[in-house]
Amino acid sequence: MKKIEIMGCGYIGLPTAITFTLAGYEVCGFDIQESVVKTLNEGKIHIVEPGLQEAMDQAMATGRLHFTAKPEPADVFIIAVQTPHRDTPEGKRVSDMKYVESAARSVGQVIRPGGLCVLESTSPPYSTRLVESIVSEVSGIPAENFMTAHCPERIIPGRMLIELRENDRIIGSNRPESAEYAKEIYTPVVTKGTIRTTDDLTAEMCKLTENTFRDINIAYANELSKVCDRLGIDVFNLIQLANCHPRVNVHTPGVGVGGHCIAVDPWFIHEKFEDITPLIYEARVINDGKPAWVADRIEKDVAPGAKVAVLGMSFKANIDDIRESPSVEFANILQQRGYEVLACEPYISHEVAGFANHSLEDAMAQCDYAVITLAHNEFKEKKDLIATKPYYDCVGLMR
Ligand SMILES: NC(=O)c1ccc[n+]([C@@H]2O[C@H](COP(=O)([O-])OP(=O)(O)OC[C@H]3O[C@@H](n4cnc5c(N)ncnc54)[C@H](O)[C@@H]3O)[C@@H](O)[C@H]2O)c1
Repeated sequence: MKKIEIMGCGYIGLPTAITFTLAGYEVCGFDIQESVVKTLNEGKIHIVEPGLQEAMDQAMATGRLHFTAKPEPADVFIIAVQTPHRDTPEGKRVSDMKYVESAARSVGQVIRPGGLCVLESTSPPYSTRLVESIVSEVSGIPAENFMTAHCPERIIPGRMLIELRENDRIIGSNRPESAEYAKEIYTPVVTKGTIRTTDDLTAEMCKLTENTFRDINIAYANELSKVCDRLGIDVFNLIQLANCHPRVNVHTPGVGVGGHCIAVDPWFIHEKFEDITPLIYEARVINDGKPAWVADRIEKDVAPGAKVAVLGMSFKANIDDIRESPSVEFANILQQRGYEVLACEPYISHEVAGFANHSLEDAMAQCDYAVITLAHNEFKEKKDLIATKPYYDCVGLMR
């Protein structure tokens, strides 16, 4: 039985560790946070995901899953650490690969000749080769005597356990035999999806291409929302009608683009090919500029000093995650311009990004004006309440 070691036990690594265990492997989850390792070894999960605790219980009961804060020898290593972006002193936005580099060093300490190291973290082109060179340097094993591959993760929170088994996977390597071996390893896990093999650069670009496509499409929708505002027509109606064409699929505008994927991944292409990717760059600028545009827009309706309810603070509807949230950015802009912000985020129980968190009832009772930044289910169910005050609807909820 092969032993698989998952490097990083967060939103991706933990469900992956559990799923590989339930597929029959012996699995070790390695994380640098000792408190996380302790919690997990007690059989408790530290992230919110439907069905994950039950799956963890089953996986722990097999006796084939444990967690460690010290890298252990294994046959296959899967790197699933975070890959955020960072701003350089020169004002450029680039990937921060320090977590991947450190995980690769840990792999290098324990990998044996013939072992496989798979990079799952979303990464810029050439990252799998970077991992290969670090593992080789630290282990002293020549690159031709172990294997590397990239297998980007494309699952979505809320459906992780399902999508780990059902989504198609792309596996790429600079050596076809390594990609084929990685495919064999993933086959018992990906029970419904198809696994396709390719080279490492194509696999890296594939994940970035998917998210960049969506970012550019949303930038187009956001630009259309500004045009429609000047024309005095409903952008959501316009897009719905345009999408009746069989070959058109315009996404939905909003208050911006957030989260740790779509708002981040396009930079990973741009950082390497700045001179030939103006479209990717411009889409990022348009989406990042949308919160300020919405603030400008509502200034026409309501003057600074007013109480404005911001309905939705997370980065997308029906989740509690505020990473890179454009709603938070928008609330901060309003506050800087002298509005009194009444944040309302029903998916979070405490204060949110420094703002007191109000119930919808409370926010609507107190506000002079409301801005609907997210189409949360609760807001959909309480449209009548929202309609009691003047509002600006960024997402087409009130249609
Ligand atoms: N979360 C998602 O929905 C999602 C979806 C698709 C792809 N991804 C990608 O998957 C990757 C992981 O994302 P995530 O959301 O799971 O991140 P996360 O922050 O939830 O988890 C990362 C974990 O790695 C650990 N870690 C950091 N450095 C380490 C090291 N050197 N060795 C061992 N452990 C280390 C951290 O302590 C943390 O527990 C990222 O590249 C992300 O872009 C995420």
